[in-house]
Amino acid sequence: MTAVASVSPAQQPTVTSSYGPTNQTETFGQIKAARMAVKAGRAKAHADLLVTVYEMFNGILNPKQLEGLRLLVTQFPQQQFNATEDRRTDRPEGMLGVTCFDCHANGHTNGAAHLVGDIRPQEFRHRIETPSLHGVNIQRLFGSQRALKTVEDFTEFEQRAAYFDGDHVMAAKKGANMLERGSQVQAMSEFMEILDFPPAPKLNVYGELDAATATASERRGEALFNGKGQCVRCHQAPYYTDNTMHDLRAERFYEQELANGMMMAHDGAIKTFPLRGIKDSPPYLHDGRCFTLEDTVEYFNLVRQLHLHAEEKKDLVAFLRTL
Ligand code: HEC
Ligand code: HEC
Repeated sequence: MTAVASVSPAQQPTVTSSYGPTNQTETFGQIKAARMAVKAGRAKAHADLLVTVYEMFNGILNPKQLEGLRLLVTQFPQQQFNATEDRRTDRPEGMLGVTCFDCHANGHTNGAAHLVGDIRPQEFRHRIETPSLHGVNIQRLFGSQRALKTVEDFTEFEQRAAYFDGDHVMAAKKGANMLERGSQVQAMSEFMEILDFPPAPKLNVYGELDAATATASERRGEALFNGKGQCVRCHQAPYYTDNTMHDLRAERFYEQELANGMMMAHDGAIKTFPLRGIKDSPPYLHDGRCFTLEDTVEYFNLVRQLHLHAEEKKDLVAFLRTL
């Protein structure tokens, strides 16, 4: 490739297509052969991965769940990773797209943030952080603000719309993969719905602290969560979500201004994310603005004007870590 690039354009023989002369030097046959070579390499890597997945889960998952898992680790075209020239990588494997589990690593999250697809103008598109898929089975709203009603809906439209920043024309141009609802979407969702929250050995069947195993600080934290902190008004046991949305109106505390090309706009209503397993998925809030659980407690201390003391904040964090 370097040798070709060093020849000046005037010396290069250009290719004539059925429409006439073009400005490119590689023939369509050569381009196609290069793509097919990449595909063959990826197909082999994918087949090897599937053998591992199959060996790991055969006999534990039913065939439909295995098929769902296969689709969750299969690459499909996406805005930044696709077979057109508009892509973010020189690496050939980027041509085939992304897999669901690239971002939702092992059904959890890699913590990466994206610009939300639903909002325009551009400066108003805020960051959204990849949520964990643990416990999607007990949840009723999907997406921090879109509030789609089922995992199936989210799975189907993630690829058609969110993968392409909400631009269906771009999706058609870059080769969106249309999942078939009754078989593929259903199988993928069935697999996601068995991804449980991590174990929480200190919680009883109601999702409350077991007094026998919890420390004094954790118990004080639980009392604050249900009392002075009023967290329980939106985060109820056993999963610590009310499965609805709330507008916390944080914009009361800042000027709405343009910073680094991004408008610090109001957020509106956001889904109450469940707090079960919360210690495992930093950063926090829909856009990852809080890096630690300590930060989230401080955030709610501010937006809800709770006047918590330093010890109370520590106890609340100790409780959050048991969930
Ligand atoms: C490029 C990274 C990325 C890829 C790839 C990706 N997701 Fe997501 N996913 C996200 C982000 C970011 C959100 C949050 C969207 C929002 O809040 O509106 C999300 C949200 C979700 C949700 C809703 C979770 C919740 O708690 O509300 C589901 C379900 C989901 N994705 C499934 C999938 C499936 C299935 C695929 C593959 C078809 C996939 N995702 C591929 C980044 C990704
Ligand atoms: C009025 C309802 C409401 C109350 C009260 C409330 N929360 Fe939340 N909580 C939310 C909403 C809505 C979100 C998502 C906000 C966002 O992403 O911007 C959230 C997010 C969180 C998160 C981050 C979840 C994640 O997945 O990133 C934590 C941690 C949290 N709340 C803890 C608390 C604590 C501790 C209290 C009490 C001090 C509390 N919340 C009180 C509604 C509430």
